[in-house]
Amino acid sequence: MLRPILKYGDPLLHQTAQPVDAITPEITRLLDDMIETMYAAPGIGLAATQVGVPLRIFVVDLSVGRDPDALMTLINPEFVSREDMQIEEEGCLSAPGFTASVARPGRIVIRGLDRAGEPRTHEGEGLLARAFQHEMDHLDGTVFIDRLRGIKRDMIVRKIRKLTRAGKW
Ligand code: NI
Repeated sequence: MLRPILKYGDPLLHQTAQPVDAITPEITRLLDDMIETMYAAPGIGLAATQVGVPLRIFVVDLSVGRDPDALMTLINPEFVSREDMQIEEEGCLSAPGFTASVARPGRIVIRGLDRAGEPRTHEGEGLLARAFQHEMDHLDGTVFIDRLRGIKRDMIVRKIRKLTRAGKW
């Protein structure tokens, strides 16, 4: 089932997600819905926070469904290591139409539980490292726009306010 993706400015996007206690049928359903919603958007990552569920879960698939091995589900993820730095343009399904350059770690090792509750460790660099950090940020209530400073941030926030006032956000 597709779930609506919350947009920047929704207070639910700015809450800190809580750890998952047990992988219940509700959690499995949430995961299926998140994957379906991510592919439909289409996007390469989605955090539970973005569909209004404050739990520490995210999904990432750089292939957007083309490669079944590329789908990663992380429950209660935590960083094992973060190294280097990259600055690239990124966007977010919660801020459609906007992109900005954001500094992120260049290489990340992250661990979490998969949908069966088994511990998994994933390594990523480049875009994958960026996606891991971006989704982890969502679980801590941070959208990439919150990481911007100065004129770029003001410009995006102002445009979003304008769209909101016009009922187009
Ligand atoms: Ni995002």
